[in-house]
Amino acid sequence: MINIALDGPAGSGKSTVAKILSKELDILYLDTGAMYRACGLKCVKLGVSVKDENAVSAFINDIDLRIEYKNGAQVTILDGIDVSTEIRRPEVSMLASDVSALKCVRLKMVEMQRKIANSLDCVLDGRDIGSFVLPNANYKYFVTADSLVRAERRFKELIERGTPVESLEALHEEIKQRDYNDSHREFAPLKQADDAVVIDTSNMTIEQVVNFILSDVRSR
Ligand code: DC
Repeated sequence: MINIALDGPAGSGKSTVAKILSKELDILYLDTGAMYRACGLKCVKLGVSVKDENAVSAFINDIDLRIEYKNGAQVTILDGIDVSTEIRRPEVSMLASDVSALKCVRLKMVEMQRKIANSLDCVLDGRDIGSFVLPNANYKYFVTADSLVRAERRFKELIERGTPVESLEALHEEIKQRDYNDSHREFAPLKQADDAVVIDTSNMTIEQVVNFILSDVRSR
């Protein structure tokens, strides 16, 4: 079984790298952030605060969330509806970060992630894959970059996608806030696993990051 854990903060380039790696190695790509984003969206649909642990714990165990694959790409399905595009909206990012801090949410999502990872070869991107979800993953990488570089990458990506975005400064603030949130929560925070290989991508292209990981995986 091949399990590659790719952790790191928002905008570090993990998801782009994970997608390419999954194609190159012909294994599945599991975007775990999409699952927390779907939980945030579910709260909005129910009119529940993402910080209200009692209200969230009342529905989370029965959440109708499915991860499927269409032509190799992940499709996130909530209550039978494909929400893959909706969960990418910038305002869903902070909701996902807040709801992901709740222990009941993490326990449920981690259970689903472990089930998928134990049955299929895959590369998973997230915040706590190497440190908590799959401590025994064969390959662990912690991908990071300077916060301004990450904000600039996100800014460019959103503009290219035609998503309205306030300003680079606002995006930078949001990224820093999310970094703080994700790394200071009590349960399974964003953390570099002791045995993870750290890759600072501030001055690297996506291709260089992919090649670095591919040669590391193939050399072992
Ligand atoms: O990777 P992303 O930006 O789509 O993730 C959205 C939020 O979900 C992120 O701010 C923190 C949370 N998350 C998490 O807590 N654990 C993961 N394994 C993946 C994401």
